[in-house]
Parts: sequence; C-alpha cells; structure tokens
Amino acid sequence: MTRLRLAILISGRGSNMDTLLRATKAPDYPATPQLVLSNRPKAQGLERARQFGVEALAIDHRAFDGREAFEDAVHEALTSRGIEIVALAGFMRVLTPGFVRKWSGRMVNIHPSLLPKYPGLNTHARAIEAGDSEAGCSVHWVSEGVDEGQVIAQARVPVKSGDSPDALADRVLGAEHDLYPEALAQACRAIIARQER
Ligand code: GRF
Repeated sequence: MTRLRLAILISGRGSNMDTLLRATKAPDYPATPQLVLSNRPKAQGLERARQFGVEALAIDHRAFDGREAFEDAVHEALTSRGIEIVALAGFMRVLTPGFVRKWSGRMVNIHPSLLPKYPGLNTHARAIEAGDSEAGCSVHWVSEGVDEGQVIAQARVPVKSGDSPDALADRVLGAEHDLYPEALAQACRAIIARQER
C-alpha cells in the first residue's frame, strides 16, 4: 500500500504529534513519519519524536531575517526529505500565502474550535464567553487565510457549567487526540486517490 512521507510541524508540547506518531505504527496507516520540525528548539515534542526514532529538527525562526527566509529553510528541509504531506500540530507560526501555496492540498492543521467559529487564538475562552453549549476541534486543509481552509473532520465536546478555559481545553484536547489520526489518514487517502487518477 502507498504510505505518504509525513512531516509534523510543532512548536511545543507535541501531544497531538505523539498521537499521530503512534497511529502511524499501524501497518495500514497511509503515512510514514520522516520528520518532526519545530520552530522552537526547546519544544518538548522534539525529544519525544527522537524517542520514537523519528528525525527531530529545530529551525529557530528567530535566527532568520523575516518570515520568508524562515519558511525557505522549512521548505528546503521538507523537500530535501521528499515530504508528501505536512501535518501542523500546535505549530504557532502564521505561514505566508507563498509558503501555503507551495503546500496547497498537502498540508493540514488541527484547530481547537468548531470552525468556522473562533479562528485564531483563545478559542476556549471565547466559546465560554459566548455561552456556547458545545465546543470542539477541527482538522482542515491549510489555505491562505488563517484557519479558513476546508474542514476535513470535526469532533464535539460539551461545555460544562463553570468550565474554565483550561478545563475546556483539556476536554477538547482529548477529542483532538481521537480525531487527528483518523482525519490525517483521510487527507492522505485523498492525496493518494488524486495521484492515482
Ligand atoms: C492544540 O490544542 C492544537 O489544537 C493547538 O495547539 C495545541 C497544541 O497542543 N493548535 P500539542 O502541542 O499538540 O500538545
């Protein structure tokens, strides 16, 4: 079976990365991890990726003069490893339209809200503030507008009375971990079907 060469981009803890790496161990998973890349050298997820036996690379955005120069280095790291699909997992840099176009139809993201509600930051506080009875997460194709790409799959959780943003974030994170491996597999299958047409 075809297994796409996967890179996961992170900035911190990497709990979603961890669930993706574990999912790729299944013999029929349609992706094989080649690289975990962080813009923050101290990201906890890098060490975890190494324990998994996956190459873990830091490209510190602060070392570059401008977003494009940083993204050129990221693009080079991806292309030189033959990456075919990119999964953003808590990657906290906004990507320029130029970079996004290069990876159009090959890059997905997980966002902790039920898009199109609450793109951007502080999603849980905003859901609580609005009095929403449910919250959740979305996996979507990355397009030029931040958190605006086509949704692949979503998972819902209740907002409970008295929830703090952190309590809601924990509940949503559990749903993210259930959702992302399956949604990424779906994205991979779509790419593979496109290639085979
Ligand atoms: C997740 O909630 C993800 O949706 C958001 O940032 C968080 C990253 O967590 N974009 P982790 O690094 O995967 O643990």
